[in-house]
Amino acid sequence: MNNTRRKFITSIGMLAASSALPISTFAFNKTSKLKVALVGTGIRGTTFWGKRLVDQYGEILEFVGLSDINPSRLEYAMKFIGADCPLFTDFEKMITQTKPDLVIVTTKDSTHHEFIIKGLQMGCDVLTEKPLTTDETKCQEIINAEKKSDKKLIVGFNYRWSPYATKIKELISNKEIGDLVSVDFHWYLNTYHGASYFRRWHGEMESSGSLWVHKSTHHFDLLNWWINSEPNEVFAYGDLEFYGKNGPQRGANCRSCDHKTTCEFYWDINKDESMKKLYADHEHEDGYIRDNCLFRKEIDIYDKMSAQVKYADNTVVNYSLTTYSPFEGWRVSFNGTKGRIEASEDIPYHAVSTVDEAEKHALEMAQNNKEEENFGSIIVHKLWEKHDVVKVPIEKGGHGGGDKRLHDKIFVNPDTTDPYGRTAGIRDGAMSVLIGIGARRSIESRKAIKISDLTDLEPKKIRS
Ligand SMILES: NC(=O)c1ccc[n+]([C@@H]2O[C@H](COP(=O)([O-])OP(=O)(O)OC[C@H]3O[C@@H](n4cnc5c(N)ncnc54)[C@H](O)[C@@H]3O)[C@@H](O)[C@H]2O)c1
Repeated sequence: MNNTRRKFITSIGMLAASSALPISTFAFNKTSKLKVALVGTGIRGTTFWGKRLVDQYGEILEFVGLSDINPSRLEYAMKFIGADCPLFTDFEKMITQTKPDLVIVTTKDSTHHEFIIKGLQMGCDVLTEKPLTTDETKCQEIINAEKKSDKKLIVGFNYRWSPYATKIKELISNKEIGDLVSVDFHWYLNTYHGASYFRRWHGEMESSGSLWVHKSTHHFDLLNWWINSEPNEVFAYGDLEFYGKNGPQRGANCRSCDHKTTCEFYWDINKDESMKKLYADHEHEDGYIRDNCLFRKEIDIYDKMSAQVKYADNTVVNYSLTTYSPFEGWRVSFNGTKGRIEASEDIPYHAVSTVDEAEKHALEMAQNNKEEENFGSIIVHKLWEKHDVVKVPIEKGGHGGGDKRLHDKIFVNPDTTDPYGRTAGIRDGAMSVLIGIGARRSIESRKAIKISDLTDLEPKKIRS
């Protein structure tokens, strides 16, 4: 390994501890680009961690291997990403043959641990998509593997990087409302985005760990980061009352369904060129049906979720996730010893939105950087005073502008000190999934679950 590459890797490796060396120096040595291998060439792998990396950072990195269980999707993915590298259905073979510096994991959630652990054991730095993993046993295995390895693990938490979420962090850190006491956080998925999880593997507990893990990991990570403490205990309720077995009708999948004209959720995948090319054209290989019926009886995750979380610093949180709301948005309020902060995005009754509900998820996933100028408001209401309105420029594309900022931090500015501590490492990844896993265990046992009973991590009063 030449010296420049060694610096680059050190730089990547130190991200969790706020790194020291500039990745950007790498751009000047075009013969030694960062060697990247990616496993899981679905939508996230091909777009955000695939095509966007080639388009934006092609000068400093190159794909040396792509891997997936579906060989025909792999062929399509390479062309879509714009990479020119060998393709593998065997992950270990890819690592042995291509010797990447960095492995990116974008497979389905329940398999992340396999590639994280193998990647670290085979001498690579690993960057995994959220969630870190789906249960406490796999979480402990990842913790053990990371301890034994001299390589590092980064978890791609993009929501922290949106300017709106960052402003909330700044106001809380500056003690605008004194010390935090309690938080209410409620997230509403609409009947397009919410339903989309029930169409595919996310609807099965074994694959996604439920939306308590797959989706709420984002929200629990935001809470942990905003509160700046670690969760001690969780108590939760959850039910499946709308999707799955509750549906009035069902079919094999949307394309072949007898209820096309009456089902509000009918979706023609063949009319969506990019979805057809990524999924339907390759389903003969592995039976991955992207337009599954969201009323199929195999669905065993919750569609109504509510939890209380107590933090090590004594802050208490009320959280809920709704999966079939007429609109997509969220609300959070923080009560402190000196006042209250209220924040929300996309609540249609608060502002006139020009974006149609069906378009919202596509816009959230978009990476084309086209934005309309927009401002969001955060209310800061100090005790005994009139409230202030803090205006924050809002971006809709790429998860509120979080996606591109996360990339820039990892690949362009790893040396800059981030006053908000937005880079997430293994402990952040673990603490956010452990709340969701604890919530699941709480529903099963009807008891409050101690986070310290799930793995050997002891929650800290102040996040380090
Ligand atoms: N941070 C975010 O905002 C965000 C957004 C979307 C997805 N994600 C995450 O990205 C990951 C991928 O999500 P997606 O929507 O692209 O899913 P997807 O179903 O479109 O893609 C998953 C890919 O992994 C492959 N795969 C599954 N099991 C495999 C295995 N054992 N070995 C190799 N390949 C395997 C599948 O064939 C598929 O190509 C998930 O973990 C998801 O949570 C994160």
